[in-house]
Parts: sequence; structure tokens; C-alpha cells
Amino acid sequence: MDLYEKFTPEKTPLRMLTVEHGPLYDPLYKAAERYLLYPRLEGTLGNRMIFNGKECIVWSINNYAGLASNEYLRSVEIKACKEWSIAFPMGARMFSGDTFAQHELEAELSDFVNKEATLLLNYGYQGMVSLIDALTDIKDVIIYDAGCHACIVDGVRLHAGKRLSYLHNDIDNLEKQLVRATRMIEKSGGAILIATEGVFGMSGDQGKLKEIVQLKEKFTFRLLVDDAHGFGTMGTDGSGAGVHQGVQDGIDFYFATFAKSMASIGAFVSSDKHAVDYIRFGIRSQMFAKTLPMLYVVSNLERLRYFRNHPELVDQLWENSRKLKSGLAKLGLDLGKSDSQIVPVYLNTSVKEGANLIVDLRENYNVFCSGALYPVVPMGIFLLRLIPTSIHTDEDIIETIKAFKAVKEKLDQGFYKNDLDEATMNSILNYASIEAPEKIL
Ligand SMILES: Cc1ncc(COP(=O)(O)O)c(C=O)c1O
Repeated sequence: MDLYEKFTPEKTPLRMLTVEHGPLYDPLYKAAERYLLYPRLEGTLGNRMIFNGKECIVWSINNYAGLASNEYLRSVEIKACKEWSIAFPMGARMFSGDTFAQHELEAELSDFVNKEATLLLNYGYQGMVSLIDALTDIKDVIIYDAGCHACIVDGVRLHAGKRLSYLHNDIDNLEKQLVRATRMIEKSGGAILIATEGVFGMSGDQGKLKEIVQLKEKFTFRLLVDDAHGFGTMGTDGSGAGVHQGVQDGIDFYFATFAKSMASIGAFVSSDKHAVDYIRFGIRSQMFAKTLPMLYVVSNLERLRYFRNHPELVDQLWENSRKLKSGLAKLGLDLGKSDSQIVPVYLNTSVKEGANLIVDLRENYNVFCSGALYPVVPMGIFLLRLIPTSIHTDEDIIETIKAFKAVKEKLDQGFYKNDLDEATMNSILNYASIEAPEKIL
């Protein structure tokens, strides 16, 4: 068979899940692949942006600290861009791409997250995959939470040794896997690495770091925590879920990305000095790829400093999160187990009803949020994820709660079982058929 034969439109994710609705509903899903997936948010990054030609309240970007359009940071970046453009430095750090700026950023990160040393990584996803590879070899056993982000799962998939998963945040189950893993390494002569998250990005519940660290009293292992969603949000100063739970010392490899709270790009891992020195010489994504442009490094340093100098950003994020959660909970919506800033809304409904509800929110209530389906969440669940930021206003929150009140009533009445009305369908089809302008610049 030619590989290309597999690439049929029916195999695209949304269509695969909606085949049950038959050809009548097909036009929506053809369009939805450009409307629900790959939507284009336009305008200045912030609490309100333009979608499908209209201003809407955005609950869909991980701009937790509201730094995405910060004027001061923009001015720093413009200056840095004039000085270095996007090219400098050239090459991987190991060979020709090292600068004092990267070291300065690493030192400030170590200070912020209370670790001895830090290594800057180009991207979170790619950095994590490669970090797992650098830390382990074929004799080692990796145990990971089944709810972990794709970057951990994919890093583990590349691992040539044994890998065990435990049920999401189930410490008894983790303990069972630790017993198995301990037997395995007694034979192989390897070591155990546990990987989990500080805050799970979809469900918003924190990893049980405290309980996992306590297991060190019974078992020998090292702990890797991806705190992409806890860095800049958890702990009174935003220094992460480990600090928030009082167990930062028990985390052996603290990993986070600049792509969320810092609204930038790049990532890092912090650990003991000798461990970071070891990783530096074994992490292939950094050794065999061009380093981050100076522009990003300088901006990340300034972002970190700005963030640390403005503790009110974390306070405001949490106030907004609390208000939004409390308003939605009063409507009787299921917000799961989130104990972080993230606000998940679980709807026990079909794909069609969930998709229609999201469309209704966007088209008729000017509220933009993202939805997730199986396999991100269990089959039969439709998850709407709302991401508060420190720059959302009370007005945004009140309007959103009103919108959810209206769509919940419609959902309860079975309204979304119907096909979308003609005007809404046309709006979606028009949106999906807009051609790109000939030239962006
Ligand atoms: C938990 C987690 N880890 C890693 C990443 C990837 O980070 P980056 O966007 O820097 O590649 C993400 C982004 O979605 C994430 O949610």
C-alpha cells in the first residue's frame, strides 16, 4: 500500500468522531475542521480578541500573567531585535551558540525556583522528550502518570527500557508500580524515574507531589515534574507547584516552559548542579539544534524579572479564577477537581451537542473557549477549558457566566441535539472558506 492512500479526509479527527451523524451534518464538520480546529484569533493578544469578524472574550490562551501584549516587554524586544535580529547566536550552544545572556537567565531561574542550577531548553515539548532521553538508559524504569502531557508520553515512548504508567494521581497505584519497578531494577541494575506534572493542563488538578515525595521514604527513585502550568501561577510568588505544596526540595528535576505564564517561547530544567552538568552534555535536542535566538533569551530574562517585580499579577489571576469558578459552579456546572487557576467545565454530552454549544458561545454570546474530546478526555465527555488570566476584567467574567447560564439551559432542554440554524451554519461556512490574503506583509 502507498502511504499516501491513508491520508483521506475521513481520517481527520473531528470527522472520525462524527461519522455517526451522517451526511446531513457533514457540511458543519467539514467547516468545523477550520472553525473548531485551527481557528484564527486576530487582533492584539489579550482578554478580548477578534474571531470570525467579531470581538469576543477569549478564555483560550495560556497568557496566565497577562504578559503577552505588555508594552514595556514589547519595547525591550524591539530594542533586542534591532541589536541582534533573529539570527544571533548561530549554532548549538556546545559549539558556537553560547552567550553570557543564557547563563544569566539560567542563574535567575535557579534563584526563582530554588534549585542549584538550570539548563535552558529551546522548546517545552521537544526539550522534555529529549530530557527524558538524557536522564535514562535501557536499564532504567520510567513510571509516569497516565494523565501526563504528550511531551512526557512521547519522551517515554522513545525510552528503550521498561516503562510503567499509574492511574492519574492514584498514589496507591503508583506504589504498586514502584514495587514492580524496584524488582525490575534489581535485575537490570538501573534506576527509577517518576514523571508527573505540577498542574495538569486540561483538568487543572495538581499532581500529588507531596504524596509522591513522601514515597521516597520507602523507595529509591528520582522525580521529574513538568510544571508548565504551575510556573508563574502557583505559590504566592508564582514559583510553582512544588513550592506551593512545600516539596520543591523533593523534586529532582523541575521543568517548565516560557510558553504559558511568560507568554514567550523556550523552556528550562532546574536541578542539582552536577545533574545539570550531566544533562548539558547528553541532551540531544540542545546539542544538535540551534539555540534560542538572543531576542528570546533577553526577552525571557526581562519577562522573568518583570514577573517577579509584579506579584500582583499572580494575585489578580487567582482572584479572576476564583470568581469565574464560583459563578460557573453556582450554575450547577461540573468543574471537576481543579485546584489550580484552570477552569475546566465537564459536559456529559455527545460530540454534536458539545460542538454546537461551542459554536453558539462563539457566534451568539461572543465567548471563545476551547473544547477537548476523547482521547484527551474519556469517551462521552466534552470538556470546555477556560483559562483565566490576570488581565480579564469583572465585566468579562460576568458576561461569560451569563453566557454559560444561557447555553446550559439550552443544553438541558436538548436544544443542541438539533442541527445548527441556517444563519449560524452560513456564518461558519463563510468563515471556513475565507481565503488567505495574497501576502501577509
Ligand atoms: C504540561 C506541558 N508541558 C509541555 C508543553 C509544551 O511546551 P512548549 O509549548 O514550550 O513546547 C505544554 C504545552 O502545551 C504543556 O501543557
